[in-house]
Amino acid sequence: MGSNVLLTGGTGYIGGTVLDTLATTHPEYNLTVLLRTVPNGFQERYPGVKIVRGGYDNFDIIANAVSQSNVVVHSGDSDHEGSIKAIIAGLLRRSSKSFLIHLSGTGIISDWRDPTYMGRLNPKVWSDVSDIDAITSLPDSALHRNVDKIIQSAAVAHGDILKTAIVCPPDIYGTGRGLVRTRSVYMPVFLEESVKLGATFYAGDGTNTRSWVHIEDLMIIYLKLVEAALTGGGNADWGLQGYYFAATHEASQLDIAKAAGSILHKHGILKTEDPQRVTSGQVNTMMERFNYPGIATYMFAANSRSTAERAKKLFEYEAKASTLWENIETDLLAGASR
Ligand SMILES: NC(=O)c1ccc[n+]([C@@H]2O[C@H](COP(=O)([O-])OP(=O)(O)OC[C@H]3O[C@@H](n4cnc5c(N)ncnc54)[C@H](OP(=O)(O)O)[C@@H]3O)[C@@H](O)[C@H]2O)c1
Repeated sequence: MGSNVLLTGGTGYIGGTVLDTLATTHPEYNLTVLLRTVPNGFQERYPGVKIVRGGYDNFDIIANAVSQSNVVVHSGDSDHEGSIKAIIAGLLRRSSKSFLIHLSGTGIISDWRDPTYMGRLNPKVWSDVSDIDAITSLPDSALHRNVDKIIQSAAVAHGDILKTAIVCPPDIYGTGRGLVRTRSVYMPVFLEESVKLGATFYAGDGTNTRSWVHIEDLMIIYLKLVEAALTGGGNADWGLQGYYFAATHEASQLDIAKAAGSILHKHGILKTEDPQRVTSGQVNTMMERFNYPGIATYMFAANSRSTAERAKKLFEYEAKASTLWENIETDLLAGASR
């Protein structure tokens, strides 16, 4: 089997770190990256990486590039249907077995549309092993489900030649290694809303809890999957079973608000270190510029709890990087300096 790997999202926080991980760990791979804009310094940093110019809406460009690849790692937009259809079409043009590793996110199992646990701890922790049947049949309204569903249908229809895996990280922290975007999403928006309010915040009793992973720990799963794919599948699970949570630990909204309050007060960004209790109505008005109704409720008032049982079982996955609490100051201040 060849080792032609095509990557998307190579300028992004996650995709850029996947690219750097593969380029530095496996210089022997033939890497190709789909880029709609080539950032300054890209060719100098990655002289061996081939560039295909195109965006996610360019079906033919994607399908043609993909048809030359044994493995595709798609990491830029978990909700973009056109790009996933083009990737699957391109891989199905190949006469031999090929692999798709797609990035989803644990928004898919969040309780953000159910008021029962708004601002309160939901005891449900989703497992990618024991809950796999429920995860692969979630309602269409679940975040990222539109694309997960396309992949899972293709896996069922073409599982003999198309091997798929979905990597489903929780919130990610830590500095990415990409050339352009090196920051995750949660801390910058939490900072932005806290500065507007004048305090960090929580809803309800703040015990609503999300899982977290360091970007470098997430890379362990990507490396294992790409390495397995390039040996014909290895010991990894593919198809409907090929669903990989990546969580290594959890944090409640109140604990994040307390830690962030103390840091932002220390740096003179907030006048108080005390988190403020806000109503769910107030949370709902936040993150307006994202133009996605309910997104702030998802981020700050809901639960999204997952355990990476499959990676633990198959790859002996465990946290190796520093914790959220060791990174929170850097992640917040990076948001403050933007
Ligand atoms: N960060 C997290 O905590 C987290 C956790 C779980 C899931 N996710 C999901 O993972 C996905 C990626 O997250 P991220 O934080 O890595 O995002 P990001 O830093 O914004 O990176 C997005 C990447 O995708 C590329 N891209 C997006 N739309 C494109 C298009 N139409 N054509 C070509 N390239 C396109 C961007 O290219 P350009 O440079 O050209 O814009 C960039 O390389 C998102 O869907 C997010 O919901 C994120």
